[in-house]
Amino acid sequence: MDSGRKKRYAVVGTGSRSKMFVRAVVGQFKDRCEMVGLCDTNRTRMAFHNETIENATGRKVATYLADDFDKMIEEQKPDTVIVTTRDCWHHKYIVRAMELGCDVIGEKPMTTDAEKCQQIVDTQKRTGKQVRVTFNYRYSPIRSKCRELIQDGAIGDVRSVDFNWLLDVRHGADYFRRWHRRKENSGGLMVHKATHHFDLVNWWIGSRPKTVFALGARTYALPEMARRLGLENHAARCQECMVAYKCRYYLDLRRKEEHTRLYLEGEKEDGYYRDQCVFADDIDIEDQMSLVVRYENGAQMSYSLHSFMPWEGYRLAINGTLGRIELNVGETSYISGDGTIQGALLKDRSSLMVLPLHGTPYYVDYPEGKGGHGGGDAPLLVDAFGFREGDDPLRHAASHIDGAYSILTGVAANQSFVTGLPVEIDSLVKF
Ligand SMILES: NC(=O)c1ccc[n+]([C@@H]2O[C@H](COP(=O)([O-])OP(=O)(O)OC[C@H]3O[C@@H](n4cnc5c(N)ncnc54)[C@H](O)[C@@H]3O)[C@@H](O)[C@H]2O)c1
Repeated sequence: MDSGRKKRYAVVGTGSRSKMFVRAVVGQFKDRCEMVGLCDTNRTRMAFHNETIENATGRKVATYLADDFDKMIEEQKPDTVIVTTRDCWHHKYIVRAMELGCDVIGEKPMTTDAEKCQQIVDTQKRTGKQVRVTFNYRYSPIRSKCRELIQDGAIGDVRSVDFNWLLDVRHGADYFRRWHRRKENSGGLMVHKATHHFDLVNWWIGSRPKTVFALGARTYALPEMARRLGLENHAARCQECMVAYKCRYYLDLRRKEEHTRLYLEGEKEDGYYRDQCVFADDIDIEDQMSLVVRYENGAQMSYSLHSFMPWEGYRLAINGTLGRIELNVGETSYISGDGTIQGALLKDRSSLMVLPLHGTPYYVDYPEGKGGHGGGDAPLLVDAFGFREGDDPLRHAASHIDGAYSILTGVAANQSFVTGLPVEIDSLVKF
């Protein structure tokens, strides 16, 4: 690229999450970056983001419906495509962007199943283009500190991991309202959500999953639970629900501007309803999941993910030959697009402790991360858009290989839920 020229970006998938990337390109990084195109199946959502672009730069960019993705690349010639569509379409745009000569910045999960993952791996090999998966949690200071401790030998060689993540009744319930609630769209929470967690473990312990055995079930997001809560006459969506007044999961899309403009006003185009009932029968993702994983380095993990919980955050312990790390994190509750910070770290409910096998336990301090995802969003953007200064000894940046290994634990778990058998990761994708 000519060094005087601004780097050109296009976004495909202009929903809620793309806002962070659009604003970064036309705001914080505007001196060296420019937005050149938007692509989506929905014109209303593209128009919403184009307004942000116009406010920041004084001009709108060209918009393209999904079928015209190739045309966008041909006409606007982006260097990098930012992929923030619904999860099940990530592979399509990642692969095509690389084939058309672009690098990719892609949201998590990189994709939703092994076949799509194989397509990405093969295309990357063939084209040599770069795919970067935006694992923002890696960048939050408390999680970076955990990696640093392990890398510096504070607990010796890692032997095992105990990891329990809780999604609360506000944030967790939101996965059951829209497209995430169908496995074909999201891969279920084992892929859509736990990709973050499995990536963190791979990164913290410096290894890759080898064997996975898992159990999963839907135990709360069920018609039966609606009956038990006296909500049996609920409608398919909150907007039309006669029992909304007594439902703790009622979401009024008219109350938040972003919900109204992106979803309520956009739904006439594509029938994307943002406020579907969390007790519907057609939900097919699990709401509680437990698994055991063996890693290539011999470590093993027991992990669980529970939704519809009273608080949001996790308990983690990593055991090594010299000691143990205990990392407890409380996060703020939120609903995507409600205008609040997503998953901010609650300092008074979070701690990082090292417990040597034969010494005195000690707390480890960490810088306070500001903003979304434990303070991970802001440094992620700096790194992903190429503005990091100096080396990165903790190797925060995640490649397509990291993206692949982060989803394969969940893909294997999905398979294990059905077969009741352990799954070997190397049977899923060939690298
Ligand atoms: N890293 C994080 O912490 C984080 C947080 C939130 C969301 N995300 C990820 O960001 C992505 C988007 O999530 P969101 O909350 O913005 O969802 P969203 O539903 O608000 O936006 C998705 C957009 O994709 C569009 N779309 C659907 N099918 C398409 C297709 N075939 N071609 C082009 N566009 C299509 C939709 O119209 C919509 O505008 C997801 O992959 C999600 O996992 C990541």
